Amino acid sequence: MVSLGDFSMSSLTGLFSADMAIDLGTANTLVYIKGRGIVLNEPSVVAFHMKDGRKQVLAVGEDAKLMLGRTPGSIQAIRPMREGVIADFDVAEAMIKHFIRKVHKRTTFSKPKIIVCVPHGATPVEKRAIRQSVISAGARRAGLIAEPIAAAIGSGMPITDPTGSMVVDIGGGTTEVAVLSLGDIVYARSVRVGGDRMDEAIISYLRRHQNLLVGEATAERIKTQIGTARMPDDGRGATLQVRGRDLLNGVPKEIEINQAQVAESLAEPVQQICEAVMIALEATPPDLAADIVDRGVMLTGGGALLGELDLALREQTGLAVSVADESLNCVALGTGKALEYEKQLRHVIDYDS
Ligand SMILES: Nc1ncnc2c1ncn2[C@@H]1O[C@H](COP(=O)(O)OP(=O)(O)O)[C@@H](O)[C@H]1O
Ligand SMILES: [Mg+2]
Repeated sequence: MVSLGDFSMSSLTGLFSADMAIDLGTANTLVYIKGRGIVLNEPSVVAFHMKDGRKQVLAVGEDAKLMLGRTPGSIQAIRPMREGVIADFDVAEAMIKHFIRKVHKRTTFSKPKIIVCVPHGATPVEKRAIRQSVISAGARRAGLIAEPIAAAIGSGMPITDPTGSMVVDIGGGTTEVAVLSLGDIVYARSVRVGGDRMDEAIISYLRRHQNLLVGEATAERIKTQIGTARMPDDGRGATLQVRGRDLLNGVPKEIEINQAQVAESLAEPVQQICEAVMIALEATPPDLAADIVDRGVMLTGGGALLGELDLALREQTGLAVSVADESLNCVALGTGKALEYEKQLRHVIDYDS
């Protein structure tokens, strides 16, 4: 049965091109379609099993994330972009194709143009691999855009002005700190600290201080629900019940954890993010650094949502810090905007053809 919604959707996509922008993140992949906005937002996870020495994809995205940490020996669930670089090219390609086909299935007439954002530090080999995956998934043209530029556009910063802007994108695997002026990158640095490192810090804290073993999904839940970058004023803060395995006798147990404990466990990754900002500021030419002191720093990415991270950064760096609206969507929205306003923003997209 065809609903009215389906009908109008297919007639619309027949009229407009399905050109798309993709944010291929270490934790989440988002797809933006020109004229429509973000149409897909799923974890960057692939589950597969080995058959006759070849990887057979079982699930991608949301379905695959549910399998992380819960797979039997014959099945693997992995995050191909985990460290901010492509850890597994074949699996990454399968994932990119899956997501493109998922949103593109209704438009069979024309091949789309696709813009993908890549980390500033991506190697030429990685860039070529991403381009090829997109082309073999059916794109007519594949453009790349540097992630810090996309993040800055998406958070509404005036990147084409002759002033310095600093954007700090805190993703799952990496934090990218960049200084932009006149639409280009003056300084950029990527450190391998982000949401994953925070989860690991919580896991290791609970193991050492509570003899409790928890998985990544539980650690992430603790972080997003009561995580904080600063000690709570009352020395305790909100609490959360956490279940895991008792390391002493191997049985399941439940404990209560408070925000002070989470702040303590996150101190190191938070410190590393602060240091990356300080190093960037020191490496920035003086006039641009002065602009940043005037205008402050913009935080984007999921890690920017960590409780009081903006405050902690302000205390440690002395800079004004803001968290972007829709920080989890900034990079996808910025890449999408580059697609929508391609004439004005042509110089930020690299087509290599
Ligand atoms: N409220 C929150 N507090 C702290 N971290 C969060 C919050 N929401 C999401 N995150 C973390 O943000 C990270 C994902 O951010 P994202 O920008 O999508 O990463 P990437 O671009 O690398 O895919 C994950 O590590 C997730 O746990
Ligand atoms: Mg990202």
